[in-house]
Amino acid sequence: MTTSFSKDLTGTAVKNKIRRFYDLGSPLYLEVYGNHIHDGYYLTGNETKQAAQENLTKLLAEKAGIKRGDRVLDVGCGIGGSSLWLAENRGASTVGISISPVQIEIAGKLAQDRHVDSEFLLMDAEKMRFEEKFDAIWVLAAITHFPHQKSFVKKATASLKQGGKFVIFDWMLHEHVLDPLSDRYVKPVSETMLLSSLYSLNTYLEWFMSGGYRIIYAEDVTVHTAKTWDDALSVIKEPAVLKMAAHIKKEDIGEILRFLKSISAMKAAMQNHRLIGGIVIAEKL
Ligand SMILES: C[S@@+](CC[C@H](N)C(=O)[O-])C[C@H]1O[C@@H](n2cnc3c(N)ncnc32)[C@H](O)[C@@H]1O
Repeated sequence: MTTSFSKDLTGTAVKNKIRRFYDLGSPLYLEVYGNHIHDGYYLTGNETKQAAQENLTKLLAEKAGIKRGDRVLDVGCGIGGSSLWLAENRGASTVGISISPVQIEIAGKLAQDRHVDSEFLLMDAEKMRFEEKFDAIWVLAAITHFPHQKSFVKKATASLKQGGKFVIFDWMLHEHVLDPLSDRYVKPVSETMLLSSLYSLNTYLEWFMSGGYRIIYAEDVTVHTAKTWDDALSVIKEPAVLKMAAHIKKEDIGEILRFLKSISAMKAAMQNHRLIGGIVIAEKL
């Protein structure tokens, strides 16, 4: 469902805003948080935020059965968090795509430095085309940026082998939120996080089940991921972050402030049961 962020924008304007945000924020994010740009999965609550992020990557890889030699397409790859982790820890060979040129450059350098079998390409996921078919299509914390998620899933299916896995983690509407445009908790999240469309976990399940897949894992994992937002709130108060903020260019301050607002907006939406952290893993039949 369309959100208040995207409702009055063209597809190009949506993508330009998202690209600018990641071009600007990714180098800062890498310094503060590392190269995974997604929620953590807290098992004990005592893990570092980076360990919690790796927990989520590991959980998805386990549930999807990613194994040595698998070709994985990492859609909305950020600065290579998943791609590098899957290559280093699962022996996968990965291709990551993002619409942010800055992210592609950073991810490529990290892969080179770490001698990892990961390639990164500048590409809009909603227009992607590949000659080859992959063992897994991995979309971690990226699909809600896309204005046309259902048609993305349909088109991406052509790039997945039979028996291949479609892996999604993202923020999803709680079943009782009927209209993200008017919900007082969802509206500020979509606007500050630049989320173009939002759906419930059940909606994703319907798409996959009616689109030639069988569901192998689906879970509301909010109880494990919600601490992400407490950790993020404490990070932005760290002296190193405040010091970095002092060097941000005047014209970029609005972007950064918007991002800071997104953290408390997300925390409130999770606490008030408007959004969930959801996982869907489906196998192509
Ligand atoms: C929150 S980050 C997640 C990055 C990465 N998956 C991770 O977990 O570290 C969202 C990513 O989606 C990418 N993205 C957003 N819209 C996109 C599009 N239309 N095509 C390709 N990538 C897109 C952004 O550039 C960014 O890399």
